[in-house]
Amino acid sequence: SRDIQIGLLGSGTVGTGVLQIIRDHQKDLAHQVGSGIQVKKVLVRDMNKYQDIENAGELLTDKVEDILQDDDIKVVIEVMGGIDEAKDYIIRALKNKKNVVTANKDLIALHGAELVKIASENSCDLFYEASVAGGIPIIRGLTEGLSSDRISQMMGIVNGTTNYILTKMSQDGRAYDDVLAEAQALGFAESDPTSDVEGLDAARKMAILASLGFSMDVELEDVDVRGITTVTIDDIKYAEQMGYALKLIGLAKRDGDRIELTVQPMLLPAKHPLSSVHDEYNAVYVYGDAIGETMFYGPGAGSLPTATAVVSDLVTVVKNMKLGVSGRSIVPPLYHKQMKTHDE
Ligand code: NAP
Ligand code: HSE
Repeated sequence: SRDIQIGLLGSGTVGTGVLQIIRDHQKDLAHQVGSGIQVKKVLVRDMNKYQDIENAGELLTDKVEDILQDDDIKVVIEVMGGIDEAKDYIIRALKNKKNVVTANKDLIALHGAELVKIASENSCDLFYEASVAGGIPIIRGLTEGLSSDRISQMMGIVNGTTNYILTKMSQDGRAYDDVLAEAQALGFAESDPTSDVEGLDAARKMAILASLGFSMDVELEDVDVRGITTVTIDDIKYAEQMGYALKLIGLAKRDGDRIELTVQPMLLPAKHPLSSVHDEYNAVYVYGDAIGETMFYGPGAGSLPTATAVVSDLVTVVKNMKLGVSGRSIVPPLYHKQMKTHDE
């Protein structure tokens, strides 16, 4: 059958990984979904920067209409980041009956419920596995693997940049600014790394996890946030001398009809499994009434790990298209049940 045509919004760290996986795993992907998958257009702002992309002349565009108005394009992958333009493009894609995959946690944390509603009204899929914890399939884990359980708590490291910084400050005694610059060069940090180091990126991810894990409407303002900007090497060394590791920890806790959501630097006993999560790796403990505790662990940022989650979403989207069940996305934030937060 005919190849499924994709429009890619953005070709930076994640977009490049998406192109690479679709190219390198072409046969396996085609085998799984029953037809070829082909990227037809790639949107960037500055086309001169991207001339070394294979087939750049045909692929690249700086006009989003080349993707949104192309009826052959059935799936749009948004990996450009930002909020307003990305939101506008995704809504227009959905209204033009294109399924959407995004890695954009900023957008999903703020407008996920609205976007899922628009997707459903247009019988389209909207998937966002890569928005939390990079390559770790935690969204599927919560919404499928643990769907029969009642989640009471989630606790973990959900920002790769800050974990990379804390790791290198601890292990190599390197200066904060120096390691932050390296995390940016490695593609782990956001384009404005303020959201990483001040804890907002982790807060957005915890808000998404809480909304999915607790089946509730969570607002970003519900999260109490502190980042790592004031942490010094001396703090880390002192903690280690006392038998602790200093980590940026996200916590989402349900207590009856109330929840507690925090992101803050915490001291963990050196033997705690989260203490040995290093570099850009993430890990999240999930506690459920029936399962007890389980931990999700893996690379939380970076090109290919994140792109793995994006392309896996794409596989699901294409399978749904083939089955004629688009618009019944399996990862909707459930906003039927309004719950109280700690500061109400
Ligand atoms: P990036 O390296 O900065 O790449 C962004 C890409 O999007 C660039 O190709 C850029 O083109 C293009 N772009 C940005 N704004 C655009 C606009 N208004 N119009 C057209 N093109 C535009 O970003 P990234 O690290 O790949 O991250 C992309 C998204 O994935 C973000 O939402 C991020 O939060 C999320 N994410 C990233 C990671 C990670 O490890 N990096 C992990 C999980 C999720 P120009 O270069 O021409 O501006
Ligand atoms: N900037 C993010 C991080 C990318 O460092 O975790 C992955 O979401």
